[in-house]
Amino acid sequence: MQSPDTVPRHVAIVMDGNGRWAKKRYLPRFFGHKAGVDTLVRVIDSCRSRGIRYLTVYAFSSENWRRPEDEVSGLMGLVIVAVTKYLAKLAGDGVRIVIIGDRESVSDRLRKAWDEAEALTRDNTGLTLSVAFNYGGRWDIVQACRRAVAAGLREDQIDEQSLSRFMATAHAPDPDLLIRTGGEMRISNFLLWQMAYTEMVFSDCLWPDFGEAELDQALASFAGRERRFGDVGAMAAR
Ligand code: IPE
Ligand code: IPE
Ligand code: MG
Repeated sequence: MQSPDTVPRHVAIVMDGNGRWAKKRYLPRFFGHKAGVDTLVRVIDSCRSRGIRYLTVYAFSSENWRRPEDEVSGLMGLVIVAVTKYLAKLAGDGVRIVIIGDRESVSDRLRKAWDEAEALTRDNTGLTLSVAFNYGGRWDIVQACRRAVAAGLREDQIDEQSLSRFMATAHAPDPDLLIRTGGEMRISNFLLWQMAYTEMVFSDCLWPDFGEAELDQALASFAGRERRFGDVGAMAAR
């Protein structure tokens, strides 16, 4: 068991590999996404029991609209099913749900499902689950700038701190650890602003197969890292 002070406060996950998981089983991609939802619910439990306070997951990127129409509509429908199936459980477990991403271009039904999830869990004080849906890191920076301008911030009032307050993740500290499953070693337009000093772990495991063992492996890797934030590090300073 890891000592509590080496547990990351905020873990971000790129849940990748659903399609390949399904393909390996000769199933349509949708079944990979469906299995991926169940994996997420298990991983939320594992994060809670390990004392992680914030979990941010990439569920649908700004670029995922480029996928075939039936996959996109399957994913949208799956969100509604997932909220119906799991919202009561998560709410009962004290999870606070926050949706980050552009809500303008999603359907009214989906927006309502997200609104309901947020409203029901708003006052919860357990793990904060941020679901990045129709999210892009570049979109986030642009929307933060726009809202800062709309709020009347003058040029000399715009700095890293003030802009952070307009980012979609203003309710959370920056991620300490990023895990990407599925074997690709890229960011794919996830939390570009927020990951300036995030430690990264890439796993070949396909997201539906991700479990406690893989999470603990990532956490152990994180615990062994020295975070320097541009400084010389503890060894050199001695
Ligand atoms: C990630 O799995 C889930 C979403 C992007 C919605 P993929 O669907 O990208 O799975 P692979 O990468 O094709 O295996
Ligand atoms: C990133 O995965 C987005 C999500 C997991 C939601 P992608 O599968 O879309 O990323 P690329 O296209 O391989 O970079
Ligand atoms: Mg993928």
